[in-house]
Amino acid sequence: MSSPLTPEELLDLARQAAARAYAPYSGFPVGAALITDDGRVFQGANIENASYGLGCCAERTAVFHAVFAGAQDVRAIAVWAPRAAPCPPCGACRQVLVEWRPRDGDMDIILEGPDGVMVRSLESLIPLSFGPRNLETEG
Ligand code: THU
Repeated sequence: MSSPLTPEELLDLARQAAARAYAPYSGFPVGAALITDDGRVFQGANIENASYGLGCCAERTAVFHAVFAGAQDVRAIAVWAPRAAPCPPCGACRQVLVEWRPRDGDMDIILEGPDGVMVRSLESLIPLSFGPRNLETEG
């Protein structure tokens, strides 16, 4: 299914989400916005913790928000940070995104590049990944 939102529109929602980040330790707010196969949009921002390692990235906040609402396939996710263009998903988030990649295709990762919007496939960011399909067994 093609997305009812343009990459620019999804990136704008990620920009809005960054305003809701809780990033007092890094001072590096990040926002994310994703669209599911059934056209629902979910946002997230990074939420840090005084115990530093327990913070959660914007992408995972958005994904968990969507999954808790019953979403399954994430068609595209945009990530935006005021201090970095682009702000690509970290390795942990890439692995989490693999879990929600549509069965019939790839997920678009939408970033703000130095010269405008960049769209990359999840496959290009985490090739040969281990995911739910690898746990499917015959019979
Ligand atoms: N962060 C994200 O939320 N997403 C990214 O793609 C990169 C990093 C957060 C984690 C931490 O709260 C802050 O940015 C600095 O690493």
